[in-house]
Amino acid sequence: MSLKNSTMRLDKLLAHMGYGSRRDIARLVALGAITLDGVDVTQADLKVEPGPALQEALEIEGERLDPLSGMVLLLNKPLGVTCSHKEVGPLVMSLLPERWRHRDPALSTVGRLDKETTGLLLLTDDGALLHRMISPRAGIGKTYHVTLARPLDGREQALFASGTLMLESETTALKPAHFEPDGAQSGHLTLHEGRYHQARRMFAALGNHVTALHRRSMGGLELPDSLAAGAWRLLGSDDVARVFSKG
Ligand code: URA
Repeated sequence: MSLKNSTMRLDKLLAHMGYGSRRDIARLVALGAITLDGVDVTQADLKVEPGPALQEALEIEGERLDPLSGMVLLLNKPLGVTCSHKEVGPLVMSLLPERWRHRDPALSTVGRLDKETTGLLLLTDDGALLHRMISPRAGIGKTYHVTLARPLDGREQALFASGTLMLESETTALKPAHFEPDGAQSGHLTLHEGRYHQARRMFAALGNHVTALHRRSMGGLELPDSLAAGAWRLLGSDDVARVFSKG
């Protein structure tokens, strides 16, 4: 459900945003812990209009209301955290405020990075936007810095660009990818699709082994150097538009 542009009960809104059950919200109201424009809210069923004005005015236990639905986050994924319950290890969601795990609509990662891959990861609760970003038709370029166990052998650029490389147990060739070496054992790889362990398997096809993989950009959106591993920030619409620009 969308939490924007229609009037709804405050307790329902806050429950959908992970602040607790409606009973929990009623308790917070009774404690005077929810304020609107600095004035205590006295009714849990107060009708509110989710939007920027509410965002500015509402505080829960002295803290500004969380972002409403339609949020997009940029996370610098650290090593060892996972994007999926299927893998063992802490989930990327554990890096965000605990109550965000209970949001409805839920936050999802935009595609996945392997547990051992670091760097730019987007999360959103906007399902339509998520689909636009991962759609093969959009073909959004994702650039990774790749570090290898052995020196490059000089065939990488041409083979990856050829659109003929067939990975083991697959039936269609990979789309052309761009590789730009920046050292004897490293370089920047841009992919326009996202097959399982794709970057690692591309180098494995040449007898090499990826020892570090770091996503630096998606479309025209780059991971800022100022965002430390494990840190995240909310994206505005200009940043989101950058994902769809070529970069
Ligand atoms: N390619 C991989 O092999 N792993 C990732 O996490 C992303 C691209």
